[in-house]
Amino acid sequence: MIILSIETSCDETGVAVVEDGRRIVSNVVASQTVHEKTGGIVPEVAAREHLRQLDPILREALARARMDLRDVDAVAATVGPGLIGALLVGATYARGLALASGKPFIGVNHLEGHVYANWLYEGDVAPPEPVLPAVVLVVSGAHSDLVLMEDHRSFRLLGRTIDDAAGEAYDKVARLLGLGFPGGPLIEKAARDGDSRSYALPKGETGARYDVSFSGLKTAVLRLERELEGRGRVPVPDVAASFQRTINEMLAERVARAAAEFDVRTVMLGGGVAANLALREEIQRRVSLPLRVPPPKLCIDNGAMIGAAGYFSLKHRGSGIPTLVRSHMPLARA
Ligand SMILES: Nc1ncnc2c1ncn2[C@@H]1O[C@H](COP(=O)(O)OP(=O)(O)OP(=O)(O)O)[C@@H](O)[C@H]1O
Ligand SMILES: [Mg+2]
Repeated sequence: MIILSIETSCDETGVAVVEDGRRIVSNVVASQTVHEKTGGIVPEVAAREHLRQLDPILREALARARMDLRDVDAVAATVGPGLIGALLVGATYARGLALASGKPFIGVNHLEGHVYANWLYEGDVAPPEPVLPAVVLVVSGAHSDLVLMEDHRSFRLLGRTIDDAAGEAYDKVARLLGLGFPGGPLIEKAARDGDSRSYALPKGETGARYDVSFSGLKTAVLRLERELEGRGRVPVPDVAASFQRTINEMLAERVARAAAEFDVRTVMLGGGVAANLALREEIQRRVSLPLRVPPPKLCIDNGAMIGAAGYFSLKHRGSGIPTLVRSHMPLARA
């Protein structure tokens, strides 16, 4: 089954062609650079950029796949969670394509997309599918959810952030250190030249077994930065490395706890922060189960992950297929 899939929930415009939920036939992503000037995403600007980009990106995705709309069996698009204007642009565009070509439309939960990125591959040789049940950590710009994936599309929430998402914490600390936006990759780069043991930072405890809180850590970095500045010089790589170690340890500790508590076969990561190589290493050190992480370019938002989740939504309708566009759409309930 060939799915044409569209992602526009935030600041990446993505269009992909995916075969049977796994093989990437083409995957074109345009990251919006207009937000660099504002140091953060302006929702209205994001929606307009998606509108401007969708036509050329769709054409490129189909051309790279050497296909046209007649070769496609279904059209999928993210319907939530995300910025409402941005979601509406992509989902309405995809519905229009489905209607015009007489193909079914599949609404996709973006967070399921981050999970199903672990099923994707490029080339001719299919790697084995992740084995379920699994503990899954979805860490992105707006979410930090630790879930138990009992079966396809069957998720149970174990814990989440009670304040900022992990990606948001990376972005805010990067801004504080004058590194720019988006912060995650810039912190990771700066941290390579630093000593992660330079500063001891607090790992905010929430009292709940699997929840996380990053606001205390963020404030601690702010205080540290001011103190260092007062003394004359901020050793940015050392601060970045210490922050990265602390946040990654917080996440890895919870993943390892869940992997030990539940009878699972796999640990999986998804979302933009899963692109962080130090996070993978931290988790790998603590769990002996197979760890599946999408390659970095499939961790950040893209159309292919929506094609994968769309395929498995059709195949495992169990928890229903979302159709209406919503800014709030949880991956799982407790
Ligand atoms: N190498 C990295 N290390 C840490 N964080 C990273 C890295 N690369 C990207 N990120 C972070 O990932 C986030 C973007 O992830 P993603 O595109 O999945 O988020 P989103 O789609 O905006 O949010 P959501 O998926 O929750 O709706 C940003 O906060 C970015 O800083
Ligand atoms: Mg995302």
